[in-house]
Amino acid sequence: MAIKRQKRKEPAVQPTQAPSESDTFETTLRPKRLHEYVGQSSIKEHLIVHIEAAKKRSEPLGHAILHGPPGLGKTTLANIIAREMGSQMRGTSGPAIEKPGDLASLLSNLEEGDVLFIDEIHRMRPAIEEVLYSAMEDFALDLVIGKGPAARSMRLELKPFTLVGATTKVGSISAPLRDRFTHNFKLNFYNTIEMEQIVERTAGILEVPLEEGAAHLVAKSCRSTPRIANRLVRSIRDFAQVSNEDRVSKDRVETTLGKLGIDDKGLDHTDREILRTIIEKFAGGPVGLSTLCAATAEEADTLEDVYEPFLMQCGYLQRTPKGRTVTELGYKLLGITLPEDAQSKLFQ
Ligand SMILES: Nc1ncnc2c1ncn2[C@@H]1O[C@H](COP(=O)(O)OP(=O)(O)OP(=O)(O)O)[C@@H](O)[C@H]1O
Ligand SMILES: [Mg+2]
Repeated sequence: MAIKRQKRKEPAVQPTQAPSESDTFETTLRPKRLHEYVGQSSIKEHLIVHIEAAKKRSEPLGHAILHGPPGLGKTTLANIIAREMGSQMRGTSGPAIEKPGDLASLLSNLEEGDVLFIDEIHRMRPAIEEVLYSAMEDFALDLVIGKGPAARSMRLELKPFTLVGATTKVGSISAPLRDRFTHNFKLNFYNTIEMEQIVERTAGILEVPLEEGAAHLVAKSCRSTPRIANRLVRSIRDFAQVSNEDRVSKDRVETTLGKLGIDDKGLDHTDREILRTIIEKFAGGPVGLSTLCAATAEEADTLEDVYEPFLMQCGYLQRTPKGRTVTELGYKLLGITLPEDAQSKLFQ
């Protein structure tokens, strides 16, 4: 279930190639309006107020940064913001913008009130980031034309727009950029009731009839993450269809989860492997990120962004200044007795 973040080269503007099957699947399931967006109630409350106020003043919303682990709904929310504002959304991503000129041309082509969405904004290069500063603050671009003694600077006015940035690593965003966002929204993991609503919504759209209790089981096993819930519903539907079942029972959910190696807490083989490695090879920790990556053969980004947030949310893992440590709960999960010296380490 690893959602690997690949450092690939992407086009600077919206994709023009045909979307892949999983892209289409995600797009179909994406809530389109704020009232369809489940959970994240504090963010929604703020957005309702700020969107209404901005519309009354006929002004853009104010730049917003959305951050949180993968699959929690950042891209979905960016699209919703544009729709609720009645604006057009232009999308790009940090690594896709190669030169300051790419960003300058994107910005100068924006219409009044447009939403510019920059995904993975933490991966934007500093030279490109600097172009954003005056664009965000003054809706203007300071351009240098020519080279050497003949170079002169020119200010290009932009139409007022809203920048929505998304990131899984808010700590990697420079302070000057972070300070230029008016709204800072942190997406949290969803609780089981919210996840159940998301599972039922997805099952409804995919026309998968769920028997009583089935949605609850999926909701408990999807790492509190809507994208994983959607994938699980799709897998369960396939298993049910192949077995000629027209309704999904709790049994079907359980057997599918078993086949996928997912336990009733939503943990998969890699989660347990990470905990087991820290316990068996590093006496429960603390162990540094790069050592853990080498020992588990996982990439640092995958460990940090995909696995650790959920393991910490469940209370199985701690991040301390000295490194990663497995908690008492983590030992219990694997059925390993916590050694006495590990106990004292945990409470240091
Ligand atoms: N609040 C929500 N209510 C219902 N469905 C949601 C919600 N949030 C996300 N989803 C579903 O989860 C899928 C993944 O969400 P999205 O692509 O917005 O995540 P993300 O935070 O942008 O992830 P990444 O960091 O990997 O880009 C969406 O296609 C959507 O179907
Ligand atoms: Mg996204």
